[in-house]
Formats: sequence, C-alpha cells, structure tokens
Amino acid sequence: MRKLKLLFYCALTAAVLTPAVVFAAQTVTEGERLGKSCAGCHATNGYAPGEYIARIGGQNTDYMTKAMKDYAAGSRKGSVEMSIVAKGYSEDQLAAISAYYGSKKWMNSTNKTDKKLVAKGKKIAAENGCFDCHGAKGEGMDAFPRIGGQNKGYMEEAMKRYKEGLIESEEMAVVKDMSEEQLTALSEFFSSLR
Ligand code: HEC
Ligand code: HEC
Repeated sequence: MRKLKLLFYCALTAAVLTPAVVFAAQTVTEGERLGKSCAGCHATNGYAPGEYIARIGGQNTDYMTKAMKDYAAGSRKGSVEMSIVAKGYSEDQLAAISAYYGSKKWMNSTNKTDKKLVAKGKKIAAENGCFDCHGAKGEGMDAFPRIGGQNKGYMEEAMKRYKEGLIESEEMAVVKDMSEEQLTALSEFFSSLR
C-alpha cells in the first residue's frame, strides 16, 4: 500500500513538474533570441566590463523582471536608454529575457577598488542592515538584487536614484539620509565583495 502511494505521488509530481520545466526551457530560449540586442551595451552574456553599465548575466530573475517592467512603465526615471529599450517588448517577453540572463552564471566585476573605501563601506553596510536583505555576500535572492561583484559606478548611480526618489523603493529608504561619500564607499565595498 505504501509503495503504491509513493508511486502515485511520483507520477503526480512528474505530471506537475514536467510541463513547468519544459516551459522554463522554452522561456529561456525565447529570452536568448529576444535578448541578443542587449549585448550591444551589456556585453556578451551580460558581463559588462566597464564601471557604469550594470552586469545582468546571473542577476536574480525576479528582480530583473520587475526592473524591466518598471523601465517599460517609465517608473525608473533617469534612465532614458533603458526605458526606450524596455518599451519595445511585451511583459512576457521581458520576463523571458530576464529568465535567460538569470540562467547565466554570475561573473564578478573587474573594477579596481580602493582598500580604504572598501573597509569604510563594509562598516557602513554592517551598521545599516544591507546584508539582511542582500545576503552576506551581496548575492540577493528573488526580488532582492545581487549587488556583490556588481560594477561600482552603476551601483553608485542607482543608489543616488533611490536617494533622490527617481526610483521609488520602500526597502531602499535606508540610503535617503546618506551622503555621497557614504554611497561611494558602499559601492566600492559591494563591488569588491566575492
Ligand atoms: C543603449 C545601451 C543599452 C542597451 C541596448 C540595453 N541597456 Fe540595459 N542598461 C543600460 C545602462 C546605461 C544601464 C545602467 C544605468 C541606467 O539604469 O540607466 C542599464 C541598466 C539595465 C538594468 C538594470 C540593472 C540592475 O541591476 O538593476 C537591466 C536589468 C538592464 N539594463 C537590462 C537590459 C536588457 C535586458 C536589455 C536588452 C533587452 C538592455 N538592458 C539593453 C544600457 C543599455
Ligand atoms: C529592506 C531590504 C533592503 C535593505 C535593508 C537594503 N536593500 Fe538594497 N535593495 C532592496 C531591494 C528590494 C532593491 C530593489 C528595489 C527596486 O525594485 O528597484 C534594492 C536595490 C539595491 C541596489 C540597486 C541594485 C541594482 O541592481 O540596480 C543597490 C546598489 C542596493 N540595493 C544597495 C543596498 C545597500 C548598500 C544597502 C545598505 C545601505 C541596502 N541596499 C539595503 C532591498 C534592500
């Protein structure tokens, strides 16, 4: 009887899981096709080498999907390029592109960082609960973006936008009272984090 029950559950699980897995694979392939144009700015696999363009290869899919929809809706202000880009796709397509980049392995930033600023940033991060949401290595999860190993100039600009209210986020209200010097140190630290 027990064996039968187990078999039943296995069959049920297989029936439920298989279509989801097939669907996810299709979504990723579709995302690869649609996301080719992104490489023009974000580089192959989304591993942007500079300081000011975000790395998107290996970013958390849920966060990226939300960010893309926000760009399309015009609610991430101060980012003209990305709003134009995102408006060219449907919501399903933006989710597929995000799933594709999210399926890539994360590769850390190659930006040079300053030791003193890194140490300063680490202290500020510990005092302000950044790790509580972004994880001990800045890896994030689901709708919390990965920031460990991200390019530093991009992160500094992004944090200034949260500070100025150009991107609205209750979670990121923590940066509202920070100085530009503090945001620079935080960016250096998280960019250097492995
Ligand atoms: C013309 C250049 C350009 C193209 C093409 C482009 N991007 Fe971007 N993207 C940027 C810049 C610059 C930023 C960073 C600053 C900003 O928000 O303006 C950015 C930021 C992003 C972010 C935010 C990263 C984060 O961590 O929050 C995501 C996600 C993103 N781009 C995805 C894409 C995708 C997907 C495509 C292709 C459909 C794409 N971009 C095409 C220039 C571009
Ligand atoms: C309460 C949870 C929470 C805390 C605490 C928090 N964050 Fe965030 N952070 C988020 C969420 C959620 C987002 C994405 C918001 C959005 O939708 O744009 C984010 C976005 C970011 C981004 C932009 C990432 C990108 O790819 O564009 C950076 C950089 C960042 N946080 C750094 C920090 C730093 C540094 C601290 C500490 C001073 C901190 N965060 C504290 C939740 C948090």
